[in-house]
Amino acid sequence: MKIFHTKEELTKYLFSTNIKGNLALVPTMGALHDGHKSLVERAKDENTVVVVSIFVNPTQFDNQDDLKKYPKTLDADLDLLHGISDDILVFAPSIDEIYDHNVKPKTYDFEGLDKVMEGAFREDHFNGVGTIVELLFLLVRPDRAYFGEKDFQQLQIIKKLVKKLELPVKVVGCPIVREPHGLALSSRNKRLTKTQHEKASFIYQTLNTAKSKFGTKSANDVKVWVEEQFEKNPHFKLEYFEITDAETLTPIQKKKQNLKYRAFIAVYAGKIRLIDNVAL
Ligand code: PAF
Repeated sequence: MKIFHTKEELTKYLFSTNIKGNLALVPTMGALHDGHKSLVERAKDENTVVVVSIFVNPTQFDNQDDLKKYPKTLDADLDLLHGISDDILVFAPSIDEIYDHNVKPKTYDFEGLDKVMEGAFREDHFNGVGTIVELLFLLVRPDRAYFGEKDFQQLQIIKKLVKKLELPVKVVGCPIVREPHGLALSSRNKRLTKTQHEKASFIYQTLNTAKSKFGTKSANDVKVWVEEQFEKNPHFKLEYFEITDAETLTPIQKKKQNLKYRAFIAVYAGKIRLIDNVAL
């Protein structure tokens, strides 16, 4: 496995290698788990060369404490990648290497996709995501890039970024990987206490019940029901629950036939913020 720490080393290698077939990029912030593993395995299956980037991107954190406490487990990450394949290329740069002492996000117009949910609650989050993803796309120039649907809003925003900047990369969304009790895998799960972790199956269970209620009830009734469930639960604090058009992410006003909807949730377990979503 080759590990690159600078942009120059990585691009030199990529441009001097005669790649027969497709080049894939799997951008990550490290603390890799089985969700990332599924992205990398799929990228390996579908492409000749796979680059995995590991970089905790400071410009997408609105909360400095969350950034400070974000798990950093490079050795374990490399072991996990090694277990998938020996010929993965890893790009693990420093903050200075990426931002050159100017740790600021660019500003993008995501045409409203960033004004709801994560974008509404985390200032500049998607500008930070756009900044790093654009930089990685321009550096690696992948044919395909793989992202998890756990960050479904991020996935839609990256598709918009690619379209607006006319970048020749196919953005591939991959299904959420869950623990046996239903909690969506996330690097932040490592920070949950044992009890929080056990109880966290409540989030997915509530989403699933909301999904079945949505068959017969209005979006507003479902929303009120979800809010009530969280008010009764001492372990979690609901930040938002939204049902939106799956494409535009506009919160639903009135249910329409032939439209695809999705339910999104953000919850605090103590100071740890968890998100999840399901197709309706
Ligand atoms: O989903 C993530 O881990 C990050 O937001 C990403 C896409 C790697 C950008 O830092």
